[in-house]
Amino acid sequence: MTRDLVELEPHGAVAVLRLVGKSSLNPLTDELIDALGARLREIDANPDFKLGLLFGSAKAFAAGADIDAMSRLAYIEAFGQDYIGRNWETIRIRRKPLVAAVAGYALGGGCELAMMCDIVMAAEDAVFGQPEVRLGIVPGAGGTQRLPRAVGKALAMDLCLSGRHLGAQDALAAGLVSRIVPTADLETEALALGQTIAAHSLPVLMAIKEAVDRSFESSLADGLLFERRQFQAGFSLQDQKEGMRAFLERRKPEFLNR
Ligand code: CAA
Repeated sequence: MTRDLVELEPHGAVAVLRLVGKSSLNPLTDELIDALGARLREIDANPDFKLGLLFGSAKAFAAGADIDAMSRLAYIEAFGQDYIGRNWETIRIRRKPLVAAVAGYALGGGCELAMMCDIVMAAEDAVFGQPEVRLGIVPGAGGTQRLPRAVGKALAMDLCLSGRHLGAQDALAAGLVSRIVPTADLETEALALGQTIAAHSLPVLMAIKEAVDRSFESSLADGLLFERRQFQAGFSLQDQKEGMRAFLERRKPEFLNR
């Protein structure tokens, strides 16, 4: 029987995913990224799930792309087979929210994977960085693009050019993560966040993700128009009626996800 590289455990509408790489450092082999892409497609396709919650191991969310495999890679193979692009893009185009729960190392592709998620929660022992420069390469899964958008040019350049690590507190101060929790509580805190999100209407969650993501791809005017149309379209949802009625009646809403 083949081992599950990405385990999926349903917790109500929260799909908990765990990377089970070839070691506890979770090197991001092609097989692991393929398995993650398949799991994310499964979550998108299953109406019972509202979001994914992605964990690595206690030692590492992921220590980056597989250096062993890359050490033998020639340009013609990387370009010809669209290395990274061919399977990491699957993660980017998912429609349901994905929360990264980071403990330990999130380096190189591991940091890039966290940044592809919609929210990054970090344990106190989390360590981020883009150390590719030390290997003689440029980050290849968004490190030079998403990192400056998250933390600004100065810190992104510092991290990418020096290859140094950034601790959880500094990552929080820089805006790379949205919250830090005690390492021992990561699992319960991440699940609690997942359940809070899962209490909301699925089409609204998906529309919010789409609109926030759009802000990185468009001018302010285009983004605002996109948001306004989403907002207006929301009045066609039964969940809008239910959410507002429940507020006025001082009760918890019961969303139907339509
Ligand atoms: N790929 C493959 N193997 C890796 C790996 C990776 N990304 N990271 C660590 N390993 C392996 C090591 O080679 C070592 O293997 P052996 O036991 O067979 O020697 C094993 O994991 C343990 O590693 P260490 O002894 O180095 O463990 P440590 O606890 O002392 O240090 C670490 C942990 C700080 C994470 C360190 O392993 C490290 O710096 N790893 C590399 C991080 C890195 O450079 N990531 C970027 C990769 S390139 C990339 O991701 C490209 C991209 O943008 C898509």
